[in-house]
Amino acid sequence: MVTRSLVAAEPFLIKQQYENYTAEQHSVWSELVRRRLPQVRDYACREYLEGYDIIGLSEDRLPNLGEITGRLKPRTGWSTTAVSGFLPADAFFEMLQARMFPTTTWLRSRDSLGYIPEPDIFHDVFGHVPMHAHPVFAEFLEHYGSVCAHIRDAQMLERLGRLFWYTVEFGLMRQDKKIKIYGSGVISSHGECTNVIEGGCEVRDFRLEEVLETPVKVDEFQKVLFAIESFEQLYEAMHEAERQVKESARA
Ligand SMILES: [Fe+2]
Repeated sequence: MVTRSLVAAEPFLIKQQYENYTAEQHSVWSELVRRRLPQVRDYACREYLEGYDIIGLSEDRLPNLGEITGRLKPRTGWSTTAVSGFLPADAFFEMLQARMFPTTTWLRSRDSLGYIPEPDIFHDVFGHVPMHAHPVFAEFLEHYGSVCAHIRDAQMLERLGRLFWYTVEFGLMRQDKKIKIYGSGVISSHGECTNVIEGGCEVRDFRLEEVLETPVKVDEFQKVLFAIESFEQLYEAMHEAERQVKESARA
């Protein structure tokens, strides 16, 4: 289903051809979920686990994006929307602003279960989508898209990209006096998650200024990550980031 209000993202919208997934692909999905669930049940934050149950993922079959949207949309207004692949920044922000999460439909093959260089449907759905059921996170993510959609300064966009990286992709939080995970890159990767659990990564308290100043590393396990205290803190941080964006645009 194509939503007419999108402009930049419109050419990237596709239909998930659900009936074309093979038995082998459903079985790869099943293996990925079963491998990740034990660690995720122990280390994911409560909000992720609640979202996981809400969106109704199956351990046996690949997710149907339309069905997930049917469960998500009445709660937070988010949809899980199929796209053809990597989106340019303007299309990506436009979709977040419209509470539509751009989701790939391809699945890694059995010989690359542990690592893939680009996100697939397992990373996108298992990793990201459960958090979209949480009202405060949902609000944060839309606000992130709407602020970034108006930034023209490349340096400012890079700073905001770091905020995305250290929260949506690799975010940690303190909950019940433990370090818990909510970022999709840690949720969906056994290696990244084990690296965090086993202390391979320094965990610092989330401070917006420091996050915006910390370059991202894409080709190795994360060495420094940031733990929030609550999703309200993240929501507030995004408002502070917005103030900074407006100030720098006036300067
Ligand atoms: Fe991601």
